[in-house]
Amino acid sequence: MKIKKAVIPAAGYGTRFLPVTKAVPKELLPIVDKPMIQYIVEEAKASGIELVILIVNHGKEAIEDHFDINYELEDTLRKKGSNGLLGLIEGLSDMIKIVSIRQKKPLGLGHAVLQAKHLIGDEPFAVILGDDIIDAPKPCLLQMVDVYEKYKKPVIAVQQVSREDTSRYGIIKGRQTDNRVYMLDDVVEKPAPDKAPSNLAIIGRYILTPEIFDILENIPSGAGGELQLTDGLRELLKQKGMIGYQFEGDRYDGGDKLGFLLANIAFAMKRTEIKDKLLDYMKGYVK
Ligand code: UTP
Repeated sequence: MKIKKAVIPAAGYGTRFLPVTKAVPKELLPIVDKPMIQYIVEEAKASGIELVILIVNHGKEAIEDHFDINYELEDTLRKKGSNGLLGLIEGLSDMIKIVSIRQKKPLGLGHAVLQAKHLIGDEPFAVILGDDIIDAPKPCLLQMVDVYEKYKKPVIAVQQVSREDTSRYGIIKGRQTDNRVYMLDDVVEKPAPDKAPSNLAIIGRYILTPEIFDILENIPSGAGGELQLTDGLRELLKQKGMIGYQFEGDRYDGGDKLGFLLANIAFAMKRTEIKDKLLDYMKGYVK
């Protein structure tokens, strides 16, 4: 079955970015001039997704506004003849169908995904985290859709991390069966470096099958009283098997200050109007 729906969880508090996230949703922080979540929605669209289900909470209304029409602004720009600027916002409201659901309490990523159950129904679907930016010639989610279509099993995106960093991620245990493809035996949440079964870490892209909803409804909450998606993944793996896919592309953790700044530099370096001046400026920091 085709992957047509993507869930984008964006109901976290973004505490690593306080104070800015007190009133501004983390997902709207810009990479150069485009909010992080727009990169994600564009990737979904370029991967064949037809419906985006945003999981939001109180205070995230501006995300919905970003993908709506701002008639006054569009009209003003049109009258001024600012067609370049108009082009940047005009298509946003009909780029893709978007609905939003509120997660009323921040009970974890697993709980956030569960909120979409009634809109997904009985079909495989994608999950993309609202702050995980991947720059790739072929959209990361599209790479994963192709893998799903070949193997018909849940697919999770993985990337290599250094041994010291295994304790920050879910880590896969499995064997490589094809270029970039791992058949998984287990996933382990945040293992210490000497306990980690590999250095391949789970990042913010998943293709899941609808069994995940029953699983999430029936497993107990984990660390911090939150319903952990990784706990659900482990059970889904037992039921359906699962593939770890080492995607092609550069990933930036936009929910982390350093990752966010690196993403800004990397994307700014692709802008001809910024690149040379930015380089000149950065040279001042090279000893
Ligand atoms: P994070 O823990 O990285 O994001 O969750 P956060 O909670 O927003 O940020 P910090 O850690 O406090 O700085 C990963 C993703 O899961 C979503 C977040 O919005 C983020 O996209 N999430 C997390 C939810 O939607 N609901 C939750 O209850 C928890």
